Amino acid sequence: MPNLQPDQIYQLLRHLTSPVVALTCQRDGKRNGMISDSAARASIAPTVPRLSVYIHKFNFSHDLIFETGRFVLHLLRDDQFELIHRLGFVSGRARDKLAGIAHRPGTLGAPVLDDCYAHFECRVVNVMDTGSSTCFLGDVVAVGHGAAQRLTGDVMTAAFFRANMPAEWRSEYEALLRTAQAYATERSRDIRPVIWTGLQER
Ligand SMILES: Cc1cc2nc3c(=O)[nH]c(=O)nc-3n(C[C@H](O)[C@H](O)[C@H](O)COP(=O)(O)O)c2cc1C
Repeated sequence: MPNLQPDQIYQLLRHLTSPVVALTCQRDGKRNGMISDSAARASIAPTVPRLSVYIHKFNFSHDLIFETGRFVLHLLRDDQFELIHRLGFVSGRARDKLAGIAHRPGTLGAPVLDDCYAHFECRVVNVMDTGSSTCFLGDVVAVGHGAAQRLTGDVMTAAFFRANMPAEWRSEYEALLRTAQAYATERSRDIRPVIWTGLQER
């Protein structure tokens, strides 16, 4: 095996990042949204549509999704840079990030963004603790197109976002990534297995 440095390994693993997606959630009237590039299809059965996503525990969305067992995952078009900046560069703990972003309540109660490529409303059916994050496994219970009502053009990929984000955002993006990496480095070995009992009563 070649003697790769940690950063070289990280760059290789970056090939496994997902498209850039927007996640929304709502608890007790408090709505929120964040950005992720760690989503994956988690079922090949067309009648059992399922996806997964890793969310760091320091994110406000983590707690809202963990406590409600519901979220909406939106694929984005490759021109939706501004939305990524609004949802992915600052936490919603102290501000309503969805104010001014057109959305409506979905069938599960979490917000569905009008402007996106497509959305998947999900109910959490299992979770996995990684120490620093939780991997949420979601059953897709409803799907829709964005407001354009057609699936054309490209979705935003992580590589496209990194290569084409406005230059003035880059230092902030890299600083946020370094902070998240420091958190993950400290917490990733402290895995506490979770038994997801489901939230059928909600
Ligand atoms: C391109 C991009 C990808 C991201 N991917 C993830 C991810 O996979 N998991 C995660 O927990 N945070 C990810 N983030 C960071 C969160 O979106 C960010 O911390 C956000 O401010 C969380 O908001 P909240 O605290 O309101 O939930 C990503 C951010 C960007 C810009």
